[in-house]
Amino acid sequence: MTSIPTGDFSQVVTPTRVHRSLYTDPDLFELEMTRIWGQAWIFIGHESQVPNTGDYFTTNINHNIPVVMVRDKSGTVQVLHNRCGHKGAKVVEARSGNARGAFRCSYHGWSYRHDGSLLKVPNEAGYEGTGFDSSNPCYSMQPLAQVESYRGFVFATLSPDAPDLKTWMGGARDCFDNLCDRAPEGEVEVAGGVLRYEHQCNWKFILENLNDTMHPMVVHESIVKAAESYLDSLPEDAVEQRKEAEIIPPFGASYEKFEASGITGFPFGHHYDGGKTSIHADYSVDPDYHSAMVAAYGEERTREIYSFNTHNVLFYPSLTIKCAVQNIRVIRPISVDRFIVETWSFRLKGAPDSMLQRTLLYSRLINSAMGMVGPDDLEVYRRAQEGLASPSNEWVEFHRQYGKDEQRVDRTVGGGTSDLDMRTQYQAWQAYMEGTIFNEVKNA
Ligand code: FES
Ligand SMILES: [Fe+2]
Repeated sequence: MTSIPTGDFSQVVTPTRVHRSLYTDPDLFELEMTRIWGQAWIFIGHESQVPNTGDYFTTNINHNIPVVMVRDKSGTVQVLHNRCGHKGAKVVEARSGNARGAFRCSYHGWSYRHDGSLLKVPNEAGYEGTGFDSSNPCYSMQPLAQVESYRGFVFATLSPDAPDLKTWMGGARDCFDNLCDRAPEGEVEVAGGVLRYEHQCNWKFILENLNDTMHPMVVHESIVKAAESYLDSLPEDAVEQRKEAEIIPPFGASYEKFEASGITGFPFGHHYDGGKTSIHADYSVDPDYHSAMVAAYGEERTREIYSFNTHNVLFYPSLTIKCAVQNIRVIRPISVDRFIVETWSFRLKGAPDSMLQRTLLYSRLINSAMGMVGPDDLEVYRRAQEGLASPSNEWVEFHRQYGKDEQRVDRTVGGGTSDLDMRTQYQAWQAYMEGTIFNEVKNA
């Protein structure tokens, strides 16, 4: 594409199609970084990654703006621009750690409190009478425009105009509640490290694939068959092996089964598939875990928590969570044809260790670079990225069940094999790009 539309993106997005330049054009990618990643609430990290004063975790909020999440001495989790107030050097280089007392820039030694305020400038006398005012916040490590957390999940936005986090999450927030309520103590914490791997394709492919239920029975066919024959070969008493292998076959579920799970879309591009049921619904229930849940919530509420069963939940554009599995994936774009996916696993506080082991198993088996399902997906994204270089057809289509999406008060619902998830996210894509995304909440 040679010229990027400024106000009106209807020439590249329609209700049922997007132009191939959305995946291939570097200028359009740069604009997405400003208009989507620069306005939306972006997932930064979890509070449990920084339990003590001075603990920090660094990441980028989009493809190139470095930020640091840090717990200050009042216990508040801050998200600061990782940029020195002096000549701009990135202050915190390590992925994570503890900055005892203060952050210190490695260039000229300016230091900063954990809330980002400037603590000390070496040899400050040289600034006397120059008009330099060290109390001016421009010399601090500045906080992002807005920072909020929900049940321990920390988000930040570069936009002062974004609505509050709860409003932005809308009805999809129920999924965070479900993830945390699955802990007998009602809280989760990061455990078991992170799996991080690069995808050689546009960042939107993974978001489109999350609730694309027309692909699993094709893309994952070979691994499903292998797992099924392995399960058939197991003796009756191979309970442990059975519990592990049972994670795979649901990926080969029929079109009818996926259709029945349904897809629900929300404002700002969020969506999930499942609700009443999902491919995670038939896992065996650990008896010790069940007892801990019943002791905490009672039988009826426990059943209610289990019964809200989603597959993938997308908080557009940076985070997808799996409530029933207790892991999340975080999307970090790099360029028009590269991005990183991080998989973080969570411990359900108050649950037996076997639950964390199952989560870690799932993360390794399904969502890691050496797994059996994620790499299948990566391969088809790579092929799509290559295929879209062809000018033979300018469009990528998502017509499935168009016209049947049912609008409810705060959400849109449709069939599980529909392209409702695509329509939901590209409606948001267009509104972010056109600068109208927050108009509705502003006018409400
Ligand atoms: S750039 Fe950080 S102290 Fe100079
Ligand atoms: Fe897949």
